[in-house]
Amino acid sequence: MSFVYLNGDFLPVGEAQVSVNDRGFLFGDGVYEVTPAYGGRLFRWEQHLARLTAGLAAIGIDFDATVLKRVKEKLLARNGLDGASGAYVYVQVTRGAAPRTHWFPDPPVAPTVYAFANRFARPSMEEWARGISAVTVPDQRWARADIKAIALLANVLAAQTAVGAGAGNAVFVRDGIALEGSHNNLFAVFGGVLATAPKSNYILHGITRDFLIELAAGLDIPVEERAIPLPELYRADEVFFSGTTTEVRPVVEIDGRKVGDGVVGPVARRLYEGFLGVVEGERPAG
Ligand code: PDD
Repeated sequence: MSFVYLNGDFLPVGEAQVSVNDRGFLFGDGVYEVTPAYGGRLFRWEQHLARLTAGLAAIGIDFDATVLKRVKEKLLARNGLDGASGAYVYVQVTRGAAPRTHWFPDPPVAPTVYAFANRFARPSMEEWARGISAVTVPDQRWARADIKAIALLANVLAAQTAVGAGAGNAVFVRDGIALEGSHNNLFAVFGGVLATAPKSNYILHGITRDFLIELAAGLDIPVEERAIPLPELYRADEVFFSGTTTEVRPVVEIDGRKVGDGVVGPVARRLYEGFLGVVEGERPAG
């Protein structure tokens, strides 16, 4: 049975109840965070905490997210995920339950804090090495994609467009620029140089993205944080997505066109090996 966290309590998922007046339900008025855990240890928690704290401040929810570290660790343990090689903890904080008004409840109400933990399946090396396909979609999100808002309709529709097209993921394109995936960041390789969209209000500032940029520096792979126009993306030698649970996922076809030679390339491979080297090192010995 899975145990979740809701507003201070750990309880079986079937017993967790949220008001129909919750502003997350009515308006998508909240933010969330997904933190990976390897060997039961939260990975880059400080960075995830900083992003969540910034998101809460950006939308004016008064909640001290530092308390969530213990909540997350407890959820991993309670759900038997402390030894899992790949797990994650999801947390969302909404503005709370109040009669429906577009403006904030005044006086403020207690935010609703919900969290759960689960494992994620990493593809086998054979499957990983086959890569996935992607389709591009117009970016119909609002102009604050840097806030990890729970309102994800445009992301949901993009992901479903990919499913409908038999593809593995969708790439958001805004004003001709390829920005990121439906739930992950996007990297491309041109002549050995790694490129990814610069941090702006139009992408989520991925923690995995930052981690890969650091890994690339250690591997002497040059990185350019710059706009990637779609025609250029089509000419990339390699393309891959990055994210929590996505980790590093190579793309061998975009919009029906082969990426490079249509096979997974060396930069994605080196970064994935580097990535696994670090996260597998998080696993307790034995
Ligand atoms: N998604 N871009 C978008 C739009 C995302 O939703 C995510 C993460 C990322 C990657 O961020 P990070 O490396 O910090 O996980 C980029 C999470 C995992 C989700 O929605 O489930």
